[in-house]
Amino acid sequence: MNSLKYFMGAAIGAVALAALSLSASAQTIGFSQVGHESDWRTAFSKSMQDEAKKEGIDLKFSDANQKEEDQLKAVRSFISQKVDAIIIAPVVVTGWDQVLKEAKAANVPVFLVDRDVETSDKSLYVTRVAADFNLEGRLAGAWLAQALKGRGDIVELQGTVGSAPAIERKRGFDAVEALFPLIKIVKSQSGDFTTQGGKEVMESFIKATDGLKGIKAVWAHNDNMMLGAIQAMKEAGLKPGTDILTVSVDGVPDIFKAMIAGDANASVELRSDIGPDIYAVVKAYLAGKKDWPKWVVIPSDLHTIQDAAEVLKRKGG
Ligand code: AHR
Repeated sequence: MNSLKYFMGAAIGAVALAALSLSASAQTIGFSQVGHESDWRTAFSKSMQDEAKKEGIDLKFSDANQKEEDQLKAVRSFISQKVDAIIIAPVVVTGWDQVLKEAKAANVPVFLVDRDVETSDKSLYVTRVAADFNLEGRLAGAWLAQALKGRGDIVELQGTVGSAPAIERKRGFDAVEALFPLIKIVKSQSGDFTTQGGKEVMESFIKATDGLKGIKAVWAHNDNMMLGAIQAMKEAGLKPGTDILTVSVDGVPDIFKAMIAGDANASVELRSDIGPDIYAVVKAYLAGKKDWPKWVVIPSDLHTIQDAAEVLKRKGG
C-alpha cells in the first residue's frame, strides 16, 4: 500500500514538474492553416494568433492558400524544427497518412482542428477539435424544408471538392431533403468557399436556367459563396431573400447585414473564436493529460432575421 502511495505521489509530482517546466519555457506550436478563402477563416486565424500571444505560445503560422502540398511542406518543416506540437486544419480529407506517420516517428503530437482527415490509423493524431458539419447541413436542410413548405426546386453551391465541410454538409442537407420528395436540387457546383467562386457559379446557374426560372432557393456551403451569389442575383434583377430564399453556413457579420437588408434568410453559425478551446486541449496534453476522445465537438446553431441584429452586435459588426 505504501509503495502504491509512493508511486502515485511520484507520478503526480512528475506531471506537475513537466507542467511547470513547460510553462516556464514558451511552447512552440506549428499551425498549418487552410488559407484565407473566407471571412470565417480569417476570423479563425485571428483567434489562433491573438490567443497564442495571450498564452505566451511561440506560434509558427503557415497559410497554405488552399493547397494541400503547401500544408505537407509546412508540417514537415514543423517536424524538422522540433516544435512541441502541430495543429493542422486540413484542406482536404485524403493524403495525410505518410506525413502523420513522420510526425509520430519524431514524437511530435498532432491535433486536427476544424476539418477532418480520412486515415486508416486514428492513433496518428491526438484529437480533432471541430464543429459537426453534418449537423450544420441538417440544420440548413430542415430550415429550408419548412420555409419551402416541403416543395420547390433549389440550387446548391458546394465548398472545396474533397474537403470535410463540403462532404459532410452536403450529406447532412441531402439526408433531410430526402424526406421531402418535392424538394429537388436542380443544379449543384463547387464555388471553392470563396465570394468570387459563388458569384461566378451563380452567374452560370442564372444563364442555364433562364434567370433562375422556377428556382425557389439557394443553399450554399458557406456564407461567402452566398454573398457572391446574392451579388450575382441582384445584378440579374432578381430578389434574393424574398423571391429566392437563401440558407448558408458560417454566420459571418456580412451575412447578418444581408439579412437585415432583406437579401438573405438564414445561416448556421460556425464558431470562429475557438483558439482558446484548441490551445486548452494542446496545453493539457503537453502537461500530461494524454487521454482525449477522438473528437472534441464545438457547437453550431442556426440564425435568421429574428436574431440577426443581436448576433451581429455580439460579433462586433
Ligand atoms: O472548414 C470550414 C469552412 O472552411 C468554412 O465554413 C468556410 O467558410 C471555410 O472556408
